[in-house]
Amino acid sequence: MRVSTSILSAIGDFKSVVCRFGAKTPEEFIYKNDLFGPWPHIEGVQIKLTVDQANGDWDGSVGVVTKILDRKDVDVANAVAIVCGPPIMMRYVTISLLDFGFDPGSIYLSMEKNMSCGFGKCGHCMLGKYYVCKDGPVFTFEQIQKYPKIWD
Ligand code: FES
Repeated sequence: MRVSTSILSAIGDFKSVVCRFGAKTPEEFIYKNDLFGPWPHIEGVQIKLTVDQANGDWDGSVGVVTKILDRKDVDVANAVAIVCGPPIMMRYVTISLLDFGFDPGSIYLSMEKNMSCGFGKCGHCMLGKYYVCKDGPVFTFEQIQKYPKIWD
């Protein structure tokens, strides 16, 4: 998660950083050492986690990521959202963010799910007029919302 690492290294540039992570089980969180280590203790960082299936000592949220999104946690007019993960999650998170009032140009989506060759030759990654591998892989929802099957 280079983006988060970069954001956290420049935390002074942001009013706050709101991070929401989901995983199937507590053991499957990526960056566990950071999520359960220093990140929650950084001033200005809010982290909430949720899992599909609780086990062990987990006493946190159980459910999909949209369950831990809350309009009150963000200053929507002055915020950007960065969304990465399985397409179905990205779809419903984007719907929630739009409901919160996010501008489509302020929602950044990591769309590398269909990439194959990675250098513009196979065409597997085409998203409308874009080669995800060459033009992205991150796009705003505003850039790609008109194209069909962006969540497939
Ligand atoms: S991944 Fe092959 S053209 Fe983009």
